[in-house]
Amino acid sequence: MTYYRRVGEVPPKRHTQHRDPDGNLYREELMGEEGFSSDSSLLYRRGVPSAIVDSQVWELPDQSLTANHPLKPRHLELHTLFSEPGEGEGGCAVEGRRLVLGNADVRISYVVTGTATSPLYRNAIGDECVYVESGSGIVPTIFGVLDYRAGDYVVIPRSTDHRWCPFEPSRLYAIEANSHIAPPRRYLSRYGQLLEHAPYCERDLHGPDYGWDGGSGEDVEVLVKHRTSAGVVGTRLTYATHPFDVVGWDGCLYPYTFNIDDYMPITGKIHQPPPVHQVFEGQNFVVCNFLPRKVDYHELAIPVPYYHSNVDSDEVMFYVGGDYEARKGSGIDLGSISLHPGGHAHGPQPSAIEASLGVDYFEESAVMVDTFKPLELGEGGLAAQDPAYAWSWAGRGPDAEASHDRGSDGGPAVFSNS
Ligand SMILES: [Fe+2]
Repeated sequence: MTYYRRVGEVPPKRHTQHRDPDGNLYREELMGEEGFSSDSSLLYRRGVPSAIVDSQVWELPDQSLTANHPLKPRHLELHTLFSEPGEGEGGCAVEGRRLVLGNADVRISYVVTGTATSPLYRNAIGDECVYVESGSGIVPTIFGVLDYRAGDYVVIPRSTDHRWCPFEPSRLYAIEANSHIAPPRRYLSRYGQLLEHAPYCERDLHGPDYGWDGGSGEDVEVLVKHRTSAGVVGTRLTYATHPFDVVGWDGCLYPYTFNIDDYMPITGKIHQPPPVHQVFEGQNFVVCNFLPRKVDYHELAIPVPYYHSNVDSDEVMFYVGGDYEARKGSGIDLGSISLHPGGHAHGPQPSAIEASLGVDYFEESAVMVDTFKPLELGEGGLAAQDPAYAWSWAGRGPDAEASHDRGSDGGPAVFSNS
């Protein structure tokens, strides 16, 4: 992120004296990536950012992963993992996440929150990109406050202290990387500006432009997710002063939101491959979104995709919007995930190809994560499985009747780019 921002009070010259009205020095903290060799920001604090007074184990929810073995395409119904929260109910946006899929590069989890404020939290493993399927609220951070709403990606850099404050129950799809998450390299100038052919620009990225969430108090607990040789673990660090004690910052490293409505889909005369729908990239994975758009306009175009075998990647589609009445009986619905693993070709149901001819607009919305390493199933993924999906192209198989009446034509959803 090379788009410079400045919020609050910063001195005219970096690394020089910056004092409060009583003459006390603020503490300057550089938060930077890749060891002083990439994007960074300078924050000015009232307290000492390294002053901890306690460190205890934070027991994370189940982080175990189960291999996709024997190999199968999977359909996971995320909406079955949480009931609709009533007053005072709902999962915690941080501690209530259920792990759905993961590998050594990225983990995808899901939670339906209530309206309770989460604990203070920091992911020290990598950047988080949390897609807001529904709901709204704010995410106070050390850089200031982000507003969030349905359709937002909330992108939070590694080790950014923050908390979630839902104003209403929120469905959050958390993509947690082991790396940084950024716009695709090919959309950036040599100095990092988003180029004219990019499907979005800096105006669409909404940083923390106002206020801090208090920032007073002593002995403040922060939940830290980090990694050891044993895998993902958690620690409760207690700080002498509140981490939201920042009075100003500037730089190119900060959290931001980006809403899918601000993504301008790239379309073509014939079917465009998924990379034109890419929005972010991390190490060994990409994030794409398929959004309402005009589709292929060649007179003989086939708007739905060809069958494809992504020999180097696993493909995860999360279906978040659109008219799914037309898909009754398919199994795939709002809130569904399809996992199409490497080693297995996939594509539309045969009847969908004929049905798509002459169609000039698709309404569906989906968020896709493609990974270069095989994905394994987390506890939430195992609990949300539709066992009939693997056989839905053929219409028969060991569990073909297990969960869904798929109607007369069987097969998976018609979704345009799955
Ligand atoms: Fe695909």
